[in-house]
Amino acid sequence: MENTIEKKVLLSGIQPSGDLHLGNYLGAIRNWARLADEFDCYFFMADMHTITVRQDPPTLRRHTLQQLAQYIACGLDPQRNTLFIQSHVHEHAELAWVLGCYTMFGELSRMTQFKDKSSKHSENINAGLFTYPALMAADILLYQPDYVPVGEDQKQHCELTRDIAQRFNNLYGEVFKVPEPYIPKVGARIMSLTDPASKMSKSDAAGCVFLLDKPEDIMRKFKKAVTDSDTERCVRYDPQTKPGVANLMSIYASCTGRTFDEIEAEFEGKGYGVFKPAVGEAVAETLRPIREESERIMKDKAYLESVYRDGAERASRTARRTLNKVYKKVGFVAK
Ligand code: TYM
Repeated sequence: MENTIEKKVLLSGIQPSGDLHLGNYLGAIRNWARLADEFDCYFFMADMHTITVRQDPPTLRRHTLQQLAQYIACGLDPQRNTLFIQSHVHEHAELAWVLGCYTMFGELSRMTQFKDKSSKHSENINAGLFTYPALMAADILLYQPDYVPVGEDQKQHCELTRDIAQRFNNLYGEVFKVPEPYIPKVGARIMSLTDPASKMSKSDAAGCVFLLDKPEDIMRKFKKAVTDSDTERCVRYDPQTKPGVANLMSIYASCTGRTFDEIEAEFEGKGYGVFKPAVGEAVAETLRPIREESERIMKDKAYLESVYRDGAERASRTARRTLNKVYKKVGFVAK
């Protein structure tokens, strides 16, 4: 294996609370796959986070393994990236407890994801949902990463992580590296195809394109995508007045590498009836190899098991070092 000592460290995770979707791919994973050469990378399945909302246990297990298969199919080579399941590395839960004692009630109350999820799941506003950002800070700080590549919606949690790290360092010396969020310029916030005012999310199946969707389903979803209510039926990038079109343009730009100017020129004089299927086709072509490869990998359970076991072992080695340091700093007696 290559020497990673001098490389900067990068870490990120996704909740296996459903199938991965285009927002996860364009906002996060696709960028991760490009970074393996340059960085020492850790990517995980955030299964502990998912139980803040009730999950069906067999489905959660399936989604977790499927997500691992999809990570690999998206280009995350397990030889060059540490891929692991969060609950396999118990240091996450342990550090989360400590960091929870350095995170303020007021800070947690201001988190948008907490506000959103507690309004969506008003029957189950549990303590885990509230303290979720302390677990996320632990996920990150255990590995001393330089960067955390995420979509726009996770910026607030990353900023809180920085505040917690700084607070801890101010008390105990330089224990944690203070990481930077790393947010892509295009694709950081993919919106729902049926409601361009809300972000694409697995809970809204009609407006969401899943990585495992078949090309005909992808085409159907794009043909039905909401564009504009204004009368100017042209392809022009203006997120304020034409949020639906801007979203489709961002998706098209992310999949084809074209700029917004080039896209406007390409569709000049053509209506949405031409534009929407073109976006659908670009997405279907981008996702086709990922779907085929994940289906193939999913069948090889022994391979998947060897990947997540090896990943957890490697992740634990790093995580243990940080946790030992933290325990010593806060005054716990060494074993
Ligand atoms: P999650 O599981 O909701 O999303 C995973 C990643 O996908 C990005 N993303 C999007 N990007 C663009 N457009 C969208 N519509 C869209 N929807 C999701 C997210 O920004 C994220 O990068 N709390 C995290 C999971 C997590 C984590 C971590 C991330 C747990 N621990 C440590 C980084 C580091 C979450 O709920 O992401």
